[in-house]
Amino acid sequence: MSSRKSRPQKRRRRSIIAFEMIRLDRTATEPLHEQLYRQIRDELKSGRFGDGSSRLPSSRALATDRGISRSTVRLALSKLHAEGYLRSKPGSGTFVANLLPETFLTADQPKTYEPIQRPIRISDRVRTIPDGRVGDQFDLGATGAGGGVSLVPSIPAVDEFPMAAWERLRAQVLAKKGVNLLRYASNRGDADLRKAIAAYLCDFRAARCHPDQIVIVAGMQQAMLVSALAMLNPGQVAWIEDPCYQQTRRVLALAGIKIIPKPLDNEGIVIARSPREKLPKIIYVTPSHQFPLGVTMSLQRRTGLLDFARAHNAFIFEDDYDAEFRFAGPPLPSLQGIDNASRVIYAGTVSKILCPSLRLGYIVAPEPLVDSLVKIRSAMDQHSSPIEQATLARFISEGFFLSHIKRMRKIYAERRDFFIKQFNELLGDHFTLQVPEAGLNIVAWLKREEEFPMIRRTTVDIGVRPSALSFFCIQAKLKPAFVFGFAAWTPTQIRESLVKLASALRDRGRNLNYGRQSR
Ligand SMILES: Cc1ncc(COP(=O)(O)O)c(C=O)c1O
Repeated sequence: MSSRKSRPQKRRRRSIIAFEMIRLDRTATEPLHEQLYRQIRDELKSGRFGDGSSRLPSSRALATDRGISRSTVRLALSKLHAEGYLRSKPGSGTFVANLLPETFLTADQPKTYEPIQRPIRISDRVRTIPDGRVGDQFDLGATGAGGGVSLVPSIPAVDEFPMAAWERLRAQVLAKKGVNLLRYASNRGDADLRKAIAAYLCDFRAARCHPDQIVIVAGMQQAMLVSALAMLNPGQVAWIEDPCYQQTRRVLALAGIKIIPKPLDNEGIVIARSPREKLPKIIYVTPSHQFPLGVTMSLQRRTGLLDFARAHNAFIFEDDYDAEFRFAGPPLPSLQGIDNASRVIYAGTVSKILCPSLRLGYIVAPEPLVDSLVKIRSAMDQHSSPIEQATLARFISEGFFLSHIKRMRKIYAERRDFFIKQFNELLGDHFTLQVPEAGLNIVAWLKREEEFPMIRRTTVDIGVRPSALSFFCIQAKLKPAFVFGFAAWTPTQIRESLVKLASALRDRGRNLNYGRQSR
């Protein structure tokens, strides 16, 4: 009983070799059976069928398939048998031999290749991306954005994602639209989604747009890349904020754009320029909430920027990545909404509002630019997943989006207040917090600059990993600070990691003092 039960498990799958590559030439002087013998032998020598479980088709099947007589096939196979390439198993068929003759004949051993001595040449493009990370450090899943309580900046609370509602809507759109969601889809994006986003932006970001101005993209990073590729030739100039979101530099470098970093003051990007400085084709800004410093661009600076763009035939790229999470007063209107000269390319993302893994974002462009953006997207990867786009469209139009934003704003406000209070109590000796009106991060300036290396080492050692502000700087020479994220963790988790950091700093401080005294 038991042996019969175990038999099916032991049975190995026998794959029948298709020999798709065999080409017989009836006009050649070489006989057909020789051609067949030689070509089958060469396929077997390739080593792809050498595990003893590959079966040959029957001589009848092979003859029918190739339109030749069975005797021609038999002649070829008998020669292969005789030379040790095949073995027969009565009642089962003909199989590739476990050990092919070449295994014993050194003369026909496969060539061994010398290891490559010279470094592989990579493109200049790879080298010009300003990024010192190597290997696994690139893997966002394995590094900063992974699980764990790390206080890494810019991570939203993905465990609050309304999974059940999303799954329900996803099932509904699949049931309703069926195979239509499985085909290639519009490069502009799902029509319902563009409509829903246009309505949302007009109502809540004071944007002025209609669905035809919207292009759905795979997040902000792609919005930047598509815009840069559509608007600038390699070597042309973009101005960007300094410090800035690290991916902005990398994306622009990938597009071959010359980057000119511009400093910030407490009103936003400083657009004054020296007479010799090249004029930009595009200016990348985060006006609602500057990343990473948290400054909100003043109205005066906004109008100045728009005037500058109009006067110099430049465009402004407005990265509105987390405007929804403003804790003091109502959200500020977007720059796009006050632009009367079609100078703003506005972009948003669901990475902070919902979750980053969806890879969904949107561009709102002046109408004459839309086709060029779409052309770039179509040459890049066509479009984002139609299933997720259709689900997001329903998620927005049925009110889940707004209620999620409202709920998250409340959760983040509580976490932020808690973080500030605990941080000041536990770490106020070392840092001064700069409390922003919005966003998921807080900048903590060092009270004693000389402590920077020690604090940095400590954060790495204990796995509480705020980013050093200098990581986001290009030329800016700012005082040492760290950018903490607070949004992704519960108050208990926040307290635990702040306590851990505070006690590690206390221990290190004691050791340092002890070292100094005993010297
Ligand atoms: C300034 C800024 N823009 C955009 C994003 C998100 O980009 P994406 O939509 O590509 O995830 C981030 C994420 O941290 C950010 O800090």
